[in-house]
Amino acid sequence: MKTTVFAAIGALATTATAQFYNVSSKPFNLVLKSDNQTLDDAALYACHEGAAIEGLCLGSKNLTDASVFTFNTSSFSEPTNSSIGDPGIISWNLQTTELLVPSSLTLQNNPTTNVGIPLLYTGDDEAQLVAFDEDDQLNIQGTLDDTVSPLNFSTLTKAYYRWYICDTYWGYAYTTLAWVYGNGEPQNPSCQGVNVTRVYT
Ligand SMILES: *[C@@H]1O[C@H](CO)[C@@H](O)[C@H](O)[C@H]1NC(C)=O
Ligand SMILES: *[C@@H]1O[C@H](CO)[C@@H](O)[C@H](O)[C@H]1NC(C)=O
Ligand SMILES: *[C@@H]1O[C@H](CO)[C@@H](O)[C@H](O)[C@H]1NC(C)=O
Ligand SMILES: *[C@@H]1O[C@H](CO)[C@@H](O)[C@H](O)[C@H]1NC(C)=O
Ligand SMILES: *[C@@H]1O[C@H](CO)[C@@H](O)[C@H](O)[C@H]1NC(C)=O
Ligand SMILES: *[C@@H]1O[C@H](CO)[C@@H](O)[C@H](O)[C@H]1NC(C)=O
Ligand SMILES: *[C@@H]1O[C@H](CO)[C@@H](O)[C@H](O)[C@H]1NC(C)=O
Repeated sequence: MKTTVFAAIGALATTATAQFYNVSSKPFNLVLKSDNQTLDDAALYACHEGAAIEGLCLGSKNLTDASVFTFNTSSFSEPTNSSIGDPGIISWNLQTTELLVPSSLTLQNNPTTNVGIPLLYTGDDEAQLVAFDEDDQLNIQGTLDDTVSPLNFSTLTKAYYRWYICDTYWGYAYTTLAWVYGNGEPQNPSCQGVNVTRVYT
């Protein structure tokens, strides 16, 4: 276990010079919005999925138990669209016995399902660009519309909100945040649609 953690730290060190998403926001918790009162106001916390890899598990409404994240933007990026937010990465510090290892949110996809699993990996190599809109809601942005033929790659930047809470399995069976690929329904029947907001600590 320890060797793997340090191997991951080694990999992080080799990419540290290429860190562009290093302008940190104030710290915040990730809190759900849902029509389901059980899920509404519940927070997410980083849960162990593998060596130095965490999922975002469904937590309680008690924010003292929630994980603390920052939103890192790039010193080189130009503000694009304030209503849907500027792209950056979600950063979280993995606490090992000796150090804090900055980790970032990525999306793990599996070709046999349309349900992707957000995971925290060390460093920022695998980071998924995300944004927070003017209502502090987490989104993923795109400029391609392939739901029409011929496909439209001249569309304005659009924000997508395809977050769900689902029973997932990556390293362990947990109830976690998930992202559904495409505009269809999740094939996993446990999934419930939610939004993810940031609440500053
Ligand atoms: C972020 O990284 C860039 C590129 O390596 C560097 O020029 C800048 O000083 C860094 N900023 C911070 C706050 O570390
Ligand atoms: C986020 O920014 C902070 C402050 O510059 C930096 O220490 C950290 O490594 C960044 N996180 C990631 C995942 O790169
Ligand atoms: C609300 O969410 C809880 C926890 O996931 C679930 O057990 C319950 O069935 C959901 N209620 C509705 C009405 O979907
Ligand atoms: C929230 O959690 C903290 C720490 O676990 C605990 O001390 C506190 O009593 C909890 N608050 C509520 C309202 O349950
Ligand atoms: C910004 O986003 C909003 C909401 O999606 C959209 O209506 C608007 O056209 C966008 N503006 C630009 C300049 O991309
Ligand atoms: C492509 O997207 C742009 C911007 O959203 C829109 O104005 C245009 O009508 C779209 N074209 C087609 C063929 O759908
Ligand atoms: C999430 O927020 C978006 C943008 O406000 C909205 O269109 C969508 O219906 C919301 N999703 C859920 C599950 O509430």
